[in-house]
Amino acid sequence: MKNYIVHDEWNIIEEGFQPAYNEVSESIFSIGNGRMGQRANFEEDYSGKSLPGSYLAGVYYPDKTRVGWWKNGYPEYFAKVINAINWIGLHIEVNGEVLDLAKCDVHSFQRKLDMKHGLLIRSFDARLQNGVEIRVKSTRMFHLFQSETASLKYTIQVLNQKASLQVESYLEGDVVNRDSNYDEHFWNFISSGTSDSQLNMTMKTKKTDFIVRADLVNNFTLNNKALESRPSKEGTYVSESVAISVEPGDIFSVEKRVSMVTSQNYSETELVVTGKANIEKISAITFDELQHNQALAWGNFWNESDIEITADVAAQQAIRFNIFQLYQTYTGEDSRLNIGPKGFTGEKYGGVTYWDTEAYCVPFYLATQPSAIARNLLLYRYQHLDKAIENAAKLGFSKGAALYPMVTMNGEECHNEWEITFEEIHRNGAIAFAIYNYQRYTGDWSYVENYGLEVLIAISRFWAQRVNWSAEKDKYVILGVTGPNEYENNVNNNWYTNTIASWCLKYTLESIQTLKDSDHIKLNVLFEKVAFKQEEAVAWQHIMDHLYYPIDTESGIFLQQDGYLDKEQVLVADLPDKERPINQKWSWDRILRSCFIKQADVLQGLYFFEDQYDLDTIRKNYDFYEPRTVHESSLSPCVHAILASKLGNEAKAYEFYLRTARLDLDDYNNDTEDGLHITSMAGTWMSIVEGFAGMRVKNNTLSFQTFIPKTWDSYAFHVQFRGVKLFVKIKQHDFELINKSNQEINIIFNGEAISVKPTA
Ligand code: BGC
Repeated sequence: MKNYIVHDEWNIIEEGFQPAYNEVSESIFSIGNGRMGQRANFEEDYSGKSLPGSYLAGVYYPDKTRVGWWKNGYPEYFAKVINAINWIGLHIEVNGEVLDLAKCDVHSFQRKLDMKHGLLIRSFDARLQNGVEIRVKSTRMFHLFQSETASLKYTIQVLNQKASLQVESYLEGDVVNRDSNYDEHFWNFISSGTSDSQLNMTMKTKKTDFIVRADLVNNFTLNNKALESRPSKEGTYVSESVAISVEPGDIFSVEKRVSMVTSQNYSETELVVTGKANIEKISAITFDELQHNQALAWGNFWNESDIEITADVAAQQAIRFNIFQLYQTYTGEDSRLNIGPKGFTGEKYGGVTYWDTEAYCVPFYLATQPSAIARNLLLYRYQHLDKAIENAAKLGFSKGAALYPMVTMNGEECHNEWEITFEEIHRNGAIAFAIYNYQRYTGDWSYVENYGLEVLIAISRFWAQRVNWSAEKDKYVILGVTGPNEYENNVNNNWYTNTIASWCLKYTLESIQTLKDSDHIKLNVLFEKVAFKQEEAVAWQHIMDHLYYPIDTESGIFLQQDGYLDKEQVLVADLPDKERPINQKWSWDRILRSCFIKQADVLQGLYFFEDQYDLDTIRKNYDFYEPRTVHESSLSPCVHAILASKLGNEAKAYEFYLRTARLDLDDYNNDTEDGLHITSMAGTWMSIVEGFAGMRVKNNTLSFQTFIPKTWDSYAFHVQFRGVKLFVKIKQHDFELINKSNQEINIIFNGEAISVKPTA
């Protein structure tokens, strides 16, 4: 755990340079705009610890899987959203010495992420080895108002003597990934140019053939007067440079404006035209105006999605950080894009899609954005349905059964750790649950009838083929699975998996019935399309009625899987600190045999399906599993926070909230340098809105069951629900509800029916 980030309500601040933590800071201070993003690498050369990373959504490389013993079904490749053209680079020489903070005396260093305005700002004073002292300030943004573009402004002043300054601003295409299974370079060079006082670079990914074109315009000034620059071009490196002599007090500045467009969205010729047009747009206005537009765009976002916490700066900073990073990763206009667990902040998990999206991120987007955004997340999976059917066929399933991949970019399975996760078939359940969640929240049945039901039928077919009849148990069983708890593999009858499988069958049958009642012609068209047979429905009902669930009848505990109680029952509290995290300190063999749980598993099921269980059952299971859970997945604490809130265990709920909210800011798991835990950030939001405020949708009605942590004066958030924008503020002994739309809404608030009238 680290504690060097200054607490502040709207800013993330590193005060004083922390070179040992530079890669951690590069992750924390990452910026993006949903279309592209970047680690907070320095513009100038830096020879210290650094992981360069600039990423473009959806632009990936299928890195050949590295494996000892190849088994049937193994994914051919692991998709990686890869480090792309570096557009921020500045090579700076002062009196012939290269500016490199690893080699200077650095003073007054500050790195700041201004979340309110969407800016990354850095400033420092440095004394070079040749004695020249300089002052630098840089401001960088990934435009939220025009997502294919970004800009930065970098100013230099010499402080103590006259000096010669040489500044070269460049685009570099020959960039690498640290994470490359066979040390390959992922890019081929196509072209570069330096015409019309613009630089450009076109690169193409190997194998996947994504073409990326960067256009860059530089403006060099001294004391606000334009400077002439000299272009130069050497294949994958194009630059423009100026050499001048400066006096103390002079202000040298370079502004860089870039457009990055890809062949995902444009033909080869369109790439050139669009790049130029993008640059024209952002060059027609000043840097201050760009900043103004950025502030407006982020302001609009915060107006709808902020959570305010008073009297707890650490908690306030953390929730804004989580919301900010999540939105920088996914803004939701494009249904081909999704939310990688590390977003644009690192290489690990390669920007690919996991069940995290459906289980954790969908609720955030449902409540904070127009429903079209969550719908796009669902459509992403709809568009991959054929691939999911192929994927299941590869594993031996037939007749339209679909198994969605554990990890994917384009619908194909591409997991590097396949041996651990290929049996995590529960992912299919989360995808079905997200359809239900969307329908429950928005009331939009049209999605289910037009797209969702087709997915549900294919998923149900999978479950129906995946169960087998156990003569010994006189029940259906589901063998050889891995539950959400990855610290157990190849187990039988994981309670969560069996529960969600049965629920999928039920929801599919109910949806079929609803469509039959409302539009049987449409249902028949669908049945024909997917060759549905009535016997399937009969078989599904039989499975639902006869599925086995491991339960300890004496205590009423749902067993995580068959034989869970055979394990030595010890508690996390008995584990010495030096043995944690167990995934770094113990052998895999020991982990698999232990009763310790990586992340919510039975409890994940109780969270999803709470309506099916009474409070006493939820409490018993929470009390049993919580002390056995090591939370070594970032996705875990939020589920525990929500259940603890429901059970009235406010202290625990708050403890889990802090753990999820400041996970990256304080680097709890010692892994922030790899990138941020983007998908679990949605879980942080859930901890407050679904946990502390107990927000649920029941029978088409929004309801809240609230509590407020003792140390907070108040907390407030915004939700969008079926055309209504509601502001909810919970104080220690009071609350406030503001309806910001023009339509009245009836809600349940702490057990009471309330009608909230529009304020306007
Ligand atoms: C978790 C998975 C999760 C993945 C990506 C793993 O550590 O166990 O549940 O999908 O990380 O976030």
